[in-house]
Amino acid sequence: MEIVKTKESLRKSIQQYRQRRVKIAFVPTMGALHDGHIALIAYARQLADVVVCSIFVNPTQFNDPKDLAKYPRPIEHDIAKLQAAACDVLFQPEVDEMYGPNEQWHLDLGHLDQVLEGMHRPGHFQGVTQVVKKLFDAVQPDIACFGQKDFQQYKVIAYMVERLKLPVTLELCPTVREPDGLAMSSRNVRLTPQGRGHALAIYRTLLQTKADFGKKNLHSLRDEAIAKLKDSAGLRLEYFAIYDRETFTEATGETAGRPSIALAAAWVDGVRLIDNIFL
Ligand code: PAJ
Repeated sequence: MEIVKTKESLRKSIQQYRQRRVKIAFVPTMGALHDGHIALIAYARQLADVVVCSIFVNPTQFNDPKDLAKYPRPIEHDIAKLQAAACDVLFQPEVDEMYGPNEQWHLDLGHLDQVLEGMHRPGHFQGVTQVVKKLFDAVQPDIACFGQKDFQQYKVIAYMVERLKLPVTLELCPTVREPDGLAMSSRNVRLTPQGRGHALAIYRTLLQTKADFGKKNLHSLRDEAIAKLKDSAGLRLEYFAIYDRETFTEATGETAGRPSIALAAAWVDGVRLIDNIFL
């Protein structure tokens, strides 16, 4: 695996592949890689000839400076995992390779950065789109792979790609879970063994919502899930919602029959966890 730290060396590497007219798939990450990330690499491998991964802990998407400071950075382990997954190129830039001093710009993301994650993490999706735009410009991939765990992030990036007419095809990959159902996340290492148990209520509630979907009305479904999560020990609910997957607006009686999704965010042990399920 080739490891490059500057856009210039990345450009040279990509140019060689482009001359051979091969298909390039890209998996952007912030490192602390787990099997969810590796599943994206494996999926990218199936779709393209060359797989590029980036590891960059993007400061502009952290609305909480403590979360940024505590973000795990086990780079040697990450490199070993990427090598084992047959990744071809790792782009691992420093902050000043990606951002100019006091750089500030803003993309119109419609309502997508006003609801759910956008509402609870002001500025988060601006930071995500800034860095993903810069990464797409640097890598110029044919395909880019994202995880369903961050479904709203996928919607935001799809919106940006469409608005800016970026020449890249997005792929969404299913959420990879621990054997007990907890969605894998780089932040899970910060959970205590007890908190780890408390966190399971999130997925359990999502599964119950899926089982009841179509049998109960949306209000009851939502209220029951919220009540269950609010009563759950060691867990502080931030939101639970049932959305139309396409418009990413709240599901209503009128949207019955359309693809839907239940999404939740909650705090456990001072760690913010998100999860979702297609209904
Ligand atoms: P990060 O949290 O490292 O996630 C990188 C990619 O892995 C994202 O597409 C995310 O949805 C996916 N992913 C994370 N956990 C997953 C799981 N359990 N199953 C499947 N996929 C999973 O998301 C980011 O980084 C950043 O916001 C980024 C897009 C890199 C921009 O900085």
